[in-house]
Amino acid sequence: MRFARALAILPFLCACDGPQSALRAAGREAERVATLWWWLAGGAVLIWVTVVALLLFAFHKREERPGRGPLLILGGGVVMPTLVLTIVLVAGLRMLPATTARASDADLRIDVSGEEWWWRVRYIDADGQAVETANEIRLPADRRAGFTLTSPDVIHSLWIPSLGGKRDLVPGRVNQLVLEPTRTGTYRGACAEYCGTSHAHMLLDVIVMEPAEFDAWLDVQREPAPAPASDVERRGRELFLASGCGACHTVRGTPAAGGVGPDLTHFGARPSLGAGTLPNNAATLTRWIEDPSQFKPEARMPAFGMLPDADVRAIAAYLSGLR
Ligand code: CUA
Repeated sequence: MRFARALAILPFLCACDGPQSALRAAGREAERVATLWWWLAGGAVLIWVTVVALLLFAFHKREERPGRGPLLILGGGVVMPTLVLTIVLVAGLRMLPATTARASDADLRIDVSGEEWWWRVRYIDADGQAVETANEIRLPADRRAGFTLTSPDVIHSLWIPSLGGKRDLVPGRVNQLVLEPTRTGTYRGACAEYCGTSHAHMLLDVIVMEPAEFDAWLDVQREPAPAPASDVERRGRELFLASGCGACHTVRGTPAAGGVGPDLTHFGARPSLGAGTLPNNAATLTRWIEDPSQFKPEARMPAFGMLPDADVRAIAAYLSGLR
């Protein structure tokens, strides 16, 4: 009974569920990975049970029967492992071609650049025009998204476990990854290669939408930033431009055209702030602007704590309004 209870809580101990689970597949590639995983797990349990049963049998057996030892060692120690590893190898090799699909064959092209420590995301139109956003990838369900992956600084690795396997972003190289989401919902991606102090703060909101909804969202992203809607937001916009924020950030439709940090044109509509570090609202943004490194060690963005509180709040109000 106790054993059964212990077994029942096992699934809760391992992260089998949630927005970042490879076993809760929401895409074709993740389904393949999950299927292989379940076969491997089942096989491992079977082998473990067999070995333990043999062990118990050997403990309880008193008399010796000469002549069987070498046969058992040859069968269990040579033939079995060779057979099992060959099956696993063939199963793995058969999955390889599917992981080398070309981004150019997909329905949608997205360039992703891993930066220290955030994600630059660019949607490329059929005519080559790019729409840039950051730390959020929205995808249409049942369409193949082709990613081209690069990095300007160190090696990162893009991993959205619910949608598929991971792939590295290597400076000086262009890697490709094709993912086909099958289920709408909100998932989470992460950087899966240690890339410096704030590697753990390099997350990604991944939202799979119905295709029509996605097209409407992308149309909004193409638009320049909305105009400030209140006096506070108008003041925030002035302060944003006067405080030098535009040296690093772009807000399309304003003179701010920096390319070092994330594009903020529709920043207010993103679920999180600082690449998944904080929930995105005016209060968290105010504290972020005052000192980003308190949330994200060694963040490249300088602290703006020298500005008066009211000014920082106005800038936060302006940016939160950029939807
Ligand atoms: Cu980027 Cu780890």
